[in-house]
Amino acid sequence: MSEPVLLVRDLVAGYEPGVPIVRGASISVGKGEIVVVLGPNGAGKSSFIKAVAGLVPITSGTVLLDGLDITAAPAHTMVRLGLAFVPQTENIFPQMSVDDNLKVACGILKPRDIPARIDEMYATFPDLERHRRMSAGNLSGGQRQMLAVARALIVHPKVLVLDEPSAGLSPKFVSMVFEMLTDIRKSGVTILLVEQNAKAALAIGDRAYVLVEGKDRHEGVASELWNDPVVAELYLGQRPSHPKTGGAA
Ligand SMILES: Nc1ncnc2c1ncn2[C@@H]1O[C@H](COP(=O)(O)OP(=O)(O)O)[C@@H](O)[C@H]1O
Ligand SMILES: [Mg+2]
Repeated sequence: MSEPVLLVRDLVAGYEPGVPIVRGASISVGKGEIVVVLGPNGAGKSSFIKAVAGLVPITSGTVLLDGLDITAAPAHTMVRLGLAFVPQTENIFPQMSVDDNLKVACGILKPRDIPARIDEMYATFPDLERHRRMSAGNLSGGQRQMLAVARALIVHPKVLVLDEPSAGLSPKFVSMVFEMLTDIRKSGVTILLVEQNAKAALAIGDRAYVLVEGKDRHEGVASELWNDPVVAELYLGQRPSHPKTGGAA
C-alpha cells in the first residue's frame, strides 16, 4: 500500500460513557485508494466513521490524517483539515437550490475562487448543472447523492468519507453512484466508503475491512474478499446464496 492518508488505530468510541460501540477498530487508507468498510447491520460502521469525522466521542485510539493527529479535532474543523464526510442522510439542504447547496459548501475557499470551483463541479457533474436552479429536494435520489458528494469534494479534501451512499437508491442509481465514485478516484481523490451493498462496493474498492461488533475482524484485497470463506463466515446474510440471514439486513 502507498503511504496512508488516513490511519486509524485501536479506535474505541461510543455515545455514552462506558458503552463502547466501536471496540478497537484499526484501518488504513492509502493515497488514491478506495477502501471499503463492510459489516452486518449494527456492526458499528456508521459509528466508526462518525467517530473518525469527530461526530462520536472517542475514548481511546488515534486518528491520523496525513500524519497529523486529528483524534480530538472537533467535527467542524475536519473540512479544513482535509477530511470531508458525507453522512448517510441529511447530507444536502432540500429547500435550497442546487447552486446554493454548492455555494454554502465553499466556506473554506477564498471568495474569489468560488465561482470557478463551482463551475468545475458542474463540469464534473453535468446533471447537477442542468438542475442548478432547482430545489435540491426535488432531485432524484441519485442526483441528491451526487450533490452531497459534490458538496464534499468542492473544498479539495485529502480524503472523502462516505456512509452508505447507495442506501435506499434504486438499482439504476446505485450503479450511477458507484460509477461516480470510480471517476472521482481516477481524479486522484482518496476514498473511505462504508457500505451494506458489499458486492457493488467490493467491485470498485481496492481493499476492504469487515467490521464485526465494532472491531475490524478481517482485511483483504477487495476483488478477493467476495469469495473469501472467512468473510462468508463473518458476514452471514449479505450473500444471496447463503441459507441463513444471521443479523444483517
Ligand atoms: N445516536 C446513537 N445513540 C446511541 N446508540 C447508537 C446511536 N447510533 C447508533 N447506536 C448504536 O450503535 C450500534 C451500531 O450502530 P451503527 O454504527 O449505526 O451500525 P451500522 O452502521 O454498522 O449499521 C447499534 O447498536 C446502535 O443501536
Ligand atoms: Mg450505518
